[in-house]
Amino acid sequence: AWRTTWISTLLATAYVSYQIYDESNPGKQQPQAATLPNGAPRKTVVILGSGWGAVSLLKRLDTTVYNVVVVSPRNYFLFTPLLPSAPTGTVELRSIIEPIRSICRRLTGEVVYHEAEATDVDPKKKIVSIKSADGETNEIHYDYLVMAVGAKPNTFGIPGVYENASFLKEVPDSQEIRQKILKNIELAASLPKEDTERKRLLSFVVVGGGPTGVEFAGELQDFVDQDLTKWYPGVAQDITVTLVEGLPNILNMFDKELIKYAQDTFEEEKIALRLKTMVKKVDGKLITAAIKKDDGSTEIEEIPYGVLVWATGNGARDVTVNLAKKLDGQTFANRGLLIDEEYLKVLGDDSIFGIGDCTLSKKFAPTAQVAYQEGIYLAKLLKNLAAIDSLRYDLNKSTETGEKAKIVSKIDNLANFAPFEYVHLGALAYIGSERAIADLSWGNWHKLSLGGSFTFLFWKVSYVAMCLSFRNRCLVVMDWIKTGVFGRDSSKEA
Ligand code: FAD
Ligand code: NAI
Repeated sequence: AWRTTWISTLLATAYVSYQIYDESNPGKQQPQAATLPNGAPRKTVVILGSGWGAVSLLKRLDTTVYNVVVVSPRNYFLFTPLLPSAPTGTVELRSIIEPIRSICRRLTGEVVYHEAEATDVDPKKKIVSIKSADGETNEIHYDYLVMAVGAKPNTFGIPGVYENASFLKEVPDSQEIRQKILKNIELAASLPKEDTERKRLLSFVVVGGGPTGVEFAGELQDFVDQDLTKWYPGVAQDITVTLVEGLPNILNMFDKELIKYAQDTFEEEKIALRLKTMVKKVDGKLITAAIKKDDGSTEIEEIPYGVLVWATGNGARDVTVNLAKKLDGQTFANRGLLIDEEYLKVLGDDSIFGIGDCTLSKKFAPTAQVAYQEGIYLAKLLKNLAAIDSLRYDLNKSTETGEKAKIVSKIDNLANFAPFEYVHLGALAYIGSERAIADLSWGNWHKLSLGGSFTFLFWKVSYVAMCLSFRNRCLVVMDWIKTGVFGRDSSKEA
């Protein structure tokens, strides 16, 4: 037995040392060049975004056969599945981000990164216009463009949402939510118990019963029950967490039994669930909602709030809408890019690919899982296209009939590329009180629905496995240990 222990310890140490060495020591990079070794012009791939789709593609793209340019206003990748844990401090934001520079620097071929946002695409001239944070503008030429700009939070044009609510999509959103919550708690602590303003300040409302809203409401209630009760005993007991959903159920993509389990858990956790409650208007202190009654009638109610988190799904970004409007066949320009779901090409242009949340699909949900798999596929497809382009160059130069026929047959073989096939692995969601739900499936073998504390353990293992770097994995695990031992802290900053 000691021999097995020794060997396992040795292997584990070697693995960890290799990972640490590999992630902290980038090797030499092949510089960008005008031509490939056979003299063919080296094409430029421009990738817009540094999220799930873009990074999954980038990590696998053969950067020696293309000049690769990445444009994103965010110089890091964000591991969104753990974002709902960040405002309460269950995990630190630094643990769930990965600098785009360290991803690019570890690739074999040089990748140029611009910290800027793409403002417009001219598909005829094959040019992307970009704007940096200090307002400087530039234009980049592409041969192939990958739209992976994700989505923005959808407000459905409901008045007052942008001005008063916080979203939960990006790092600054998490920081804003934390500041608002702790500011309100400190303000409430100085007010008398029966003060109505105190009650309002301590009323935390989450709108949207999709997975984002549910996971955040669960995390927030954990923060109140497990930590704030210790540090603000008089105040914490008056905090209310409310989840507002327009439909009769939360988490509509999950199995019915799991929906019931999640709703029962919320009841136990004392999270107020307001179903069939459609928000119509928001101002600085009140939410106006239409509540559908059992007899079919509608009642208008005003819900006072202190902090409002808005999580009602995705809307298309401006750059996506502008591009869609310029292309033929894009009938839902305002909602996202329609793509050919077999080869991920944006309808109406053969040089533009669309992956992830900026696309509109009946087949694929806007999830990290889809964007990640699309990125992997596109890396293979682009490698194949590079090989075809290079062979076409050889074909043009070749004068010998026999050789030409060989090249044509090689091109034909490569052109026969298998279409994208999405493999749905299931859905997971944290619901608070150290419980999670899971709808698992694998190909035709499906499906397994689980809920409870064991599922929470599975959730934890899966999310650590899903982290894109060894560094993130270690940091997330260390954060969980830290939270378990010391609890979450209640400082406003961070
Ligand atoms: P993103 O990951 O959003 O990346 C978009 C990128 O584009 C960003 O880098 C952004 O800065 C950049 N960008 C924006 N505008 C521009 C522009 N004009 N020009 C250039 N770049 C631009 N999915 C799951 O499968 N499992 C989960 O557990 C899960 N949890 C989630 C939790 C939360 C809180 C949220 C918000 C989402 C969650 N999702 C989850 C959904 C998942 O995050 C998205 O489906 C996924 O991020 C989509 O990947 P993407 O690459 O299309 O977009
Ligand atoms: P969502 O689109 O899944 O859910 C939004 C909810 O808001 C819907 O239930 C909708 O009925 C409700 N809603 C809309 N307008 C409303 C209004 N005015 N008043 C009250 N309720 C209203 O959005 P979410 O949760 O932001 O997720 C976006 C995408 O990201 C989804 O595809 C989701 O699957 C994915 N995601 C996955 C996670 C996971 O797998 N654990 C976690 C978070 C997001």
